[in-house]
Amino acid sequence: MFRDYIDDIENYSSHSETVLDVPFVPTDEDVVDAMLNLGNVGPKDVLYDLGSGDGRILISAARDRNTRGIGVDIDPVRIADAMEEAGYAGVEVLVDFIEEDIFETDFSEATVVTLYLLQSVNVQLRPRLLAELKPGTRVVSHAFNMGDWKADDWIKIGGIFIYKWIIPAQIAGIWEWKDSNGKLYRIELEQQYQEISGRVWFDGEEMTLESANLTGSRLELNILDSNSNLLSNVILVFGNKEISSVTFL
Ligand SMILES: C[S@@+](CC[C@H](N)C(=O)[O-])C[C@H]1O[C@@H](n2cnc3c(N)ncnc32)[C@H](O)[C@@H]1O
Repeated sequence: MFRDYIDDIENYSSHSETVLDVPFVPTDEDVVDAMLNLGNVGPKDVLYDLGSGDGRILISAARDRNTRGIGVDIDPVRIADAMEEAGYAGVEVLVDFIEEDIFETDFSEATVVTLYLLQSVNVQLRPRLLAELKPGTRVVSHAFNMGDWKADDWIKIGGIFIYKWIIPAQIAGIWEWKDSNGKLYRIELEQQYQEISGRVWFDGEEMTLESANLTGSRLELNILDSNSNLLSNVILVFGNKEISSVTFL
């Protein structure tokens, strides 16, 4: 898409010697607002914009939502612009801009990440986003998807898609818990991103896993008995390699 705007990406960034994975094209202000709304960005968040350009996403979030933000851009010209803009907006205390390669920067403290990169760059970043961000962290991308990692939500504004993903906990494997009568549930789960499938046993007998919906570290299961009646609607919350809570609905 960026190649539609410009013939030569390196010429586009000719005021610096930096080699860019994506040229600087700023997000329109109405799209910035829509991205922050889709990401439910608020004052408790730590927002990272990877490839932060002139800093407008972070500056809007700081000014309008009191959100702390860290921008990462490899181009020193952009970092200088962003710092200047943050000063004009009076939000220097809430935002930092780091001159670094997004493929090397540590973004693990983020609770929300925004991206306006390219699909190929999103896909390259994908393994690190999944491995290093905490479950429940939101990732919001302007215009570009993540390949075969389907978005949890999206909106369309002025013909442009904005996508949101919620980092899923890694829960593939075998898990067990008991009901209030001491009967044992056992599930074997497979996972592809946030999509979960698997098998379930109750008191040693195999049942049907009707649905399994994972949002961050919260897994809601619907389990049917051998007569296809609802046996259990249960929410498991996963902690660090353990089930931290079980709630029967
Ligand atoms: C399309 S602009 C987006 C700017 C801003 N996020 C916005 O939405 O307005 C992409 C930005 O990524 C930066 N960039 C490109 N490759 C990068 C890399 N490897 N590491 C860090 N920043 C990079 C560019 O300098 C540019 O400012």
